[in-house]
Amino acid sequence: MVKQNSRHGEKELRLGIVGFGRVGRACADVVLEAKDLTVAAIVRRLDRVAQPLPEVFSQVPVVSHTAQVPGMDGVLLCVPTAQVFEAAHDCLQHGVPVVESSILHGEAFQAHREAIDRLAVRFKVPAIVGAGWDPGALSLFRSLFGLLVPEGELETTHRVAASLHHTAMARQVTGVKEALCTEQVAAGGTKQRYVYVEVEPGVDVAHVAAAIRADPLFLNEETLVFPVDSVAALEQEGRGVVLERRSGPGSKGHQRLLFEARFDDAMMTARLMVAAARALPGLSPGAHALVDVPLGALWGEQAYDAERAWL
Ligand SMILES: NC(=O)c1ccc[n+]([C@@H]2O[C@H](COP(=O)([O-])OP(=O)(O)OC[C@H]3O[C@@H](n4cnc5c(N)ncnc54)[C@H](OP(=O)(O)O)[C@@H]3O)[C@@H](O)[C@H]2O)c1
Repeated sequence: MVKQNSRHGEKELRLGIVGFGRVGRACADVVLEAKDLTVAAIVRRLDRVAQPLPEVFSQVPVVSHTAQVPGMDGVLLCVPTAQVFEAAHDCLQHGVPVVESSILHGEAFQAHREAIDRLAVRFKVPAIVGAGWDPGALSLFRSLFGLLVPEGELETTHRVAASLHHTAMARQVTGVKEALCTEQVAAGGTKQRYVYVEVEPGVDVAHVAAAIRADPLFLNEETLVFPVDSVAALEQEGRGVVLERRSGPGSKGHQRLLFEARFDDAMMTARLMVAAARALPGLSPGAHALVDVPLGALWGEQAYDAERAWL
């Protein structure tokens, strides 16, 4: 049920969140800050219902079963992968659409999608599956890289390793407050250095980058320098990925696509799950993978502005 939001004159979606772990908490934060969404309820295991939630969620009802919450437009399933099917069944049989992000890939993902699809078709309700960081956002990037460079090789490097020796050098460059240097092996086998620098106020990052690249330690390696607000925060995030796709020998031209990210996977997953929920009202019954959902639909009421901004 989509209702008018009297504050903003927009339509507001009432979303349930099942499971209050890392992703569930992040989803609750994202929904709470969104003008077009409301947390209808948080659904927890029976023995957790009485546990107090952080103060910001004090107004949110906490229940032990989705059937106890009337009028939900969708539910974000944030339970462990092994529990997702059962939780999806509970919602879909009551006519409530779901979004989930189970970490499943390849054939396991397809089997999972088919199982949810059977339920969703039977109960005539839409579901979006694999809507997290990976699978999810990263799948979209991989797919796009494949379309743009069809004959290339895709190299994925997880958790870029820090190089202490190179980090120490970068820290000595004038104007650098803090630095972190990582290394990865690119598709062609060559080494690349990523240097994240936190510079003193007023310092020109281009000069810092030139000084780092000119050092003998970095001379024979491709070195990319990125300014960041806080190296400490970057280290805490702890996770990173580099996707690189290069056109193969004999293909037309020399294409090279590079995507580099450091992130909190729970927050990235929550952002995608919440965006997917905005697309639910426009979808037909059945299970939709994220790649099947039009990008514009993920923006909900902001689709028009997003098109102007990004296209
Ligand atoms: N696609 C991606 O990139 C991505 C990334 C991270 C996670 N995920 C997915 O997101 C989901 C949640 O992950 P998470 O990291 O938030 O997990 P988590 O921190 O372990 O939280 C899971 C929550 O589910 C609830 N729960 C219900 N039944 C449970 C059971 N039998 N055992 C344990 N917990 C149970 C609990 O909440 P209550 O205490 O409130 O009952 C628990 O806190 C998983 O399906 C995971 O695969 C996807």
